[in-house]
Amino acid sequence: MSDLYTELTTRLQQAIHRSFGDEYQNVDPLLRATQDPKFGDFQANVAMSLAKALKRKPRDIAETICANAELKDICDAPDIAGPGFINLRVLPGAIARQLLTLAANDRLAIEKDHQPQTVVVDYSGPNVAKEMHVGHLRSTIIGDAIAKVLEFLGHKVIRQNHLGDWGTQFGMLIEHLIDSGWKLDAGQSIGDLNVLYQEAKKRFDDDASFAERARQRVVALQGGDADTRALWQALVQASRQYFSEVYARLDVTLQDSDARGESSYNDSLQATIDELSQKTLTQKDQGATVVYLPEFVGRDDKPLPLIVQKSDGGYLYATTDLACLRYRIKELRADRVIYVTDARQSQHFAMVFKTAELAGWLDHHVTLEHVPFGSVLGEDGKPFKTRSGEVVRLIQLIEEAERRALAVVSRKNPDLTAEQQKQVAETVGVGAIKYADLSSDRVKDYVFAWDRMLAMEGNTAPYLQYAYTRVQSIFRKGLEHYEKMDISHLHAAHIEIHEPVEKQLALKLFQLESVLSQVAERLEPHRLCNYLFELATLFSSFYEACPVLKAPSEVSRDTRLLLCELTARTIKLGLNLLGIRVLEKM
Ligand code: ARG
Repeated sequence: MSDLYTELTTRLQQAIHRSFGDEYQNVDPLLRATQDPKFGDFQANVAMSLAKALKRKPRDIAETICANAELKDICDAPDIAGPGFINLRVLPGAIARQLLTLAANDRLAIEKDHQPQTVVVDYSGPNVAKEMHVGHLRSTIIGDAIAKVLEFLGHKVIRQNHLGDWGTQFGMLIEHLIDSGWKLDAGQSIGDLNVLYQEAKKRFDDDASFAERARQRVVALQGGDADTRALWQALVQASRQYFSEVYARLDVTLQDSDARGESSYNDSLQATIDELSQKTLTQKDQGATVVYLPEFVGRDDKPLPLIVQKSDGGYLYATTDLACLRYRIKELRADRVIYVTDARQSQHFAMVFKTAELAGWLDHHVTLEHVPFGSVLGEDGKPFKTRSGEVVRLIQLIEEAERRALAVVSRKNPDLTAEQQKQVAETVGVGAIKYADLSSDRVKDYVFAWDRMLAMEGNTAPYLQYAYTRVQSIFRKGLEHYEKMDISHLHAAHIEIHEPVEKQLALKLFQLESVLSQVAERLEPHRLCNYLFELATLFSSFYEACPVLKAPSEVSRDTRLLLCELTARTIKLGLNLLGIRVLEKM
């Protein structure tokens, strides 16, 4: 049996099919956990929604479905309430069996997808010689969580870091690098590179002769001039080193080998345009080469073209993305390609995807998805900046998180050694930043607020990390009273669920599988956050109502220990999939 919820859904689906014929195959039974235990544990609301199509009373329909449903091994006989709600009460034995199934399995009995796909996840994508900004932070954190969840569910995930490492800006950067005698070495800080970028930009705007030399430098770079290429390479190298440092600090899984910058598509840009032209998708428009897509119109109601080559022969962001997408489909053999960038790029991707479809690259089975997210705002509601109005440097942000977390940890737990406190602060600080980002509905803007993300109460990483350590301390304390705290010997006969909150907690534990499949389908990590928060909240109520080590009987103690252990394992797995670590003590 997979998760109880999924199992009940399937059984009801089969009953609907049996009751009303093939037309009613795969109807969603609209199963929900009930709010009030009086009405059982689950409620299916499908009868009301079928009434119109079947031209029958919902109560009638509910009765027919129940008569055709095989639920005996999981539930009591279903109740029909009100106009036609089907109420289901899960049998204690079924809960006990399921708890043990979870306990005995190192993936908490979560099944892998039966149709594993090759999924390319494009995320992070910072730009060379520039500071990563908070938008890149969001992409990095959200993309990494998505990659981890898909991988856990059995898909072959190919991470792709589409670095901005090519383009005309390198002309001015390199020219300025030469003029000012900059020395690049591997330890170059990105702050320095950022300064270099600002200076070069200023000269480019102010000084016409410099601008002209910068343009020639672009030609030299594109033409493969050895010295120019070497300097470009050094710039790219220094930036990549810095990005790796940020990923390591953030505990993000991106590796150097996942980087495939814009430059790597340089040689296939012309061939891509030629292919589109052969398929008669391109047109000339004032010297530029463009693709017209009827569904896209600009503000003035005029058709909006996707420009793939400028009149001077230069290529654009879109050209690279087309060549890149072609590579991902044809070479990487992706079934699903996911792009994690801010919402402002939505139209860009919609146009690139449409062009790919018209070019016949999708073979009916490849799905392309843009995963947009909103902006990061400061507590004043304006775009998140430093006080002096500069972009916030990510390393500084991480350091600040750790500093603030350290203050909390040393106050809460002065008994830890300084070294332990530091480690806890790193895990809590980085976890807090990541969780704050992941837990908000990604398409919305989100407000970066230190106090809220580091709070020990509410939907935060520290709250979940703390819930985990509470369980660990129960087990540690148990060892002071009992010889061993091993619950692996438990079998179904040893499990007794009496208290309503025990049952609620158990049923919550069973939901992880369906939550993860929703996250994988909709690419919305906040669903996992909400689930973990609900679980931890229920655990708190359980812990208040049900003494564990001082339970009324041995059977009850072991049942509760099992619930504790599974809660901890679920929180750990959930947080890890979000890229956040747990701690034994904090
Ligand atoms: N470098 C881009 C930026 O900073 C993000 C790249 C996203 N990926 C892509 N295939 N276009 O906005």
